[in-house]
Amino acid sequence: MDGCWQIERHEEIDSTNRRALELARAGAPSGTVVVASRQTSGCGRRSRHWHSPAGGLWFSLLLRPNVAPECTAAASLMAGVSVVSTLRRLYRRNDICLKWPNDILIGEKKIVGILAEMALDADGFVDFLVIGIGINVDLPPDTWTGELKDRAVSLRTATGIVYTPDEVLREALTDMKIHVKDWEANGMSKILSAWLAMNNTIGREVIVKDDGRVIWSGTATALSEDGSLTVRGEDGCIQTFSFGEISIR
Ligand code: BTN
Repeated sequence: MDGCWQIERHEEIDSTNRRALELARAGAPSGTVVVASRQTSGCGRRSRHWHSPAGGLWFSLLLRPNVAPECTAAASLMAGVSVVSTLRRLYRRNDICLKWPNDILIGEKKIVGILAEMALDADGFVDFLVIGIGINVDLPPDTWTGELKDRAVSLRTATGIVYTPDEVLREALTDMKIHVKDWEANGMSKILSAWLAMNNTIGREVIVKDDGRVIWSGTATALSEDGSLTVRGEDGCIQTFSFGEISIR
């Protein structure tokens, strides 16, 4: 990625990821950013709805990195590391951490979700990546209902520190530029070590679920460059998961 970010701003949009995909298909350059104050149809992983009212930071980055196609997961890890660095610095909290596959938590509660999408060109090379990032910057505690009430929180509620979404965006884009350049120049090894230093998953007892169904449990032992998680079962058998969700016991 060369030069600066080019930002397209919306007061309200259905989804910044959808718009970034549209711009990407129309040939928009690497470094395009779509940001919205509110999303009416924010997309989460596994086709879930992502609640996106005013007060959060909802944005998507379009990148055209010179990397191999197996890199969507790597892009998502890179984005996770970058956002944790930004938030730890701004909110002065070292308990902001990554949980596999790439949620960002403060304590036990989710503050950031990341959704990376990719398209290949006719020769099978990466045409573009869209990395959507949702940060719960300043949302009131009653934003979430039902089971989400106990699982999500905003940074303001958790820390008492007040930033606007725009202030967080400015810092996040500065850090992201550094991480993207480093990833393109040096590959994943530094990012992987940073992820390992910032995660709450490796070494813990976990339950792996797919669509809410428990499929495995054991000790999380490793993260691969492709983002997959290795879990050693109680009987010593090793399984590797490239998708799914975990609960930490
Ligand atoms: C998750 O399920 O954890 C991923 C959530 C990703 C939400 C962000 S908000 C900005 C961007 N636009 C979307 O529609 N989704 C992502």
